[in-house]
Amino acid sequence: MAKRVRPMNGTKNGKTPHLAYAPLIIDGTRIKMRLRVAGQLVKLPDDLPLPQIERRCSSLHGWGVFALERITKNSRIIYYSGQLVPSKESHGREAEYLEKGCIWCFELSHRWAVDANFGGNVSRFINHACKPNSYTQIIDGIIWIRAGRTIDAGEELTYDYHTGGTAEIACQCRPGCKGII
Ligand SMILES: C[S@@+](CC[C@H](N)C(=O)[O-])C[C@H]1O[C@@H](n2cnc3c(N)ncnc32)[C@H](O)[C@@H]1O
Ligand SMILES: [Zn+2]
Repeated sequence: MAKRVRPMNGTKNGKTPHLAYAPLIIDGTRIKMRLRVAGQLVKLPDDLPLPQIERRCSSLHGWGVFALERITKNSRIIYYSGQLVPSKESHGREAEYLEKGCIWCFELSHRWAVDANFGGNVSRFINHACKPNSYTQIIDGIIWIRAGRTIDAGEELTYDYHTGGTAEIACQCRPGCKGII
C-alpha cells in the first residue's frame, strides 16, 4: 500500500540536511532500483497523455486539485514528482514540514521516499479524504495517482494519505468527519 511518510524527529540541528548529489532528471517512464541516487528528481516527460487537471482553492483545505474533464475508473491521473530521499532522512524532513502544517514526503519503498517540496508537480496539492475518489499505486518506481471511480469534470481529486493519524491533523474531508490525518 502506498502511503505518506510518518514524521519522526531526526534532523540534525532542526534543519533539513542537504544531499551530497546534485538533482538529476529522470527522463523515462521507469526508474531502475539500482540506479537510484539520493537527490535525483523523479520527473517524467511533460507530454504524457494524462487527463487535464488544475490547482484551485479547495473547500477541504487551502489548495486542491480538480478534474477538468471526465476521468474513467483506474486511469492514471498524475504521478508524484519530487526529490528522491533516503527514508531515514525523509522522516526528519517530514517532521520539519509538519511544524508548518505541510505533508510533502511520500513513501516509495522501505529505502526511499519522494519529497515534493523539491521539484514537486501539482500532485502535491491533492488533499486527503477518508472516502476518496482516487488511490495511489507504485508502478516501476513511480507513485501514480489513479481514479478509484469515474470522476466528473469539476470534482476535486482526493486520495487516502494512510498516515495512521501521525500528522495529528483533524480531517475536514466532509462535515462531521472524525478522521485524523
Ligand atoms: C500535500 S498538502 C495538500 C495541499 C494543501 N491543501 C495546500 O494548500 O498546500 C497536505 C496538507 O493539506 C492539508 N490537508 C489535506 N487534506 C486535508 C483534509 N482532508 N482535512 C484537513 N486538512 C487537509 C493538511 O494540512 C496537510 O498537511
Ligand atoms: Zn475525513
